[in-house]
Amino acid sequence: MKALGIVGSPRRNGNVDTLVSKVLEGAQEAGLETSKYILNEMNYSGCQACEYCKSHDHCRLDDDLTELFAEMKEADAVVFGSPIYFFLFSGQFKLMQDRMYSLIDAAFVPRLRPGKRAIIVTSQGNADVASYAKAADDFALALKMLGFELKDIIRMVDGIAPDAALARKDMLDMARSAGAALGRE
Ligand SMILES: Cc1cc2nc3c(=O)[nH]c(=O)nc-3n(C[C@H](O)[C@H](O)[C@H](O)COP(=O)(O)O)c2cc1C
Repeated sequence: MKALGIVGSPRRNGNVDTLVSKVLEGAQEAGLETSKYILNEMNYSGCQACEYCKSHDHCRLDDDLTELFAEMKEADAVVFGSPIYFFLFSGQFKLMQDRMYSLIDAAFVPRLRPGKRAIIVTSQGNADVASYAKAADDFALALKMLGFELKDIIRMVDGIAPDAALARKDMLDMARSAGAALGRE
């Protein structure tokens, strides 16, 4: 089994990166093969709305997301991570999300094998988890449309310092157990 991690924060070793990596660590311990993509270090464009993917089974653009989506097709589980920027996911993440339009056909039927497991990881500066919960909750709707089975949402708060998650043993443990659970039936 394979798990793929996607980091939508530009901060390497920031909170999202730390927690996505921890989920992948748990998945590895459960026997899954893992890989991780840092969106900020990849070259890709936003969706061009050309609708090519509705008459073909892939996106017309050929860039760094081509490989990511090929791995996503293979993966049994995907960990989607993004910081909260102005109530929403980061721009880097949203460009990738829009390109996932190529993963549904003209009848809006997912092209991905149904039932892939998903975990969402978010991190925000604010201490109140409820204030920014909507971003992940809305992305969960997109995941449902794409045929994913959402297993967990891990929400880090008070994350202005990039290493804040490292001091949150509860979050690290939660992330690792969520990853380990990806290997269970
Ligand atoms: C452009 C920008 C916008 C942000 N907007 C919000 C926000 O609306 N609410 C919030 O709680 N934190 C906000 N933050 C703080 C980040 O969400 C927070 O630092 C998060 O933990 C970053 O994750 P990272 O450590 O993985 O980069 C913002 C940060 C930046 C750089």
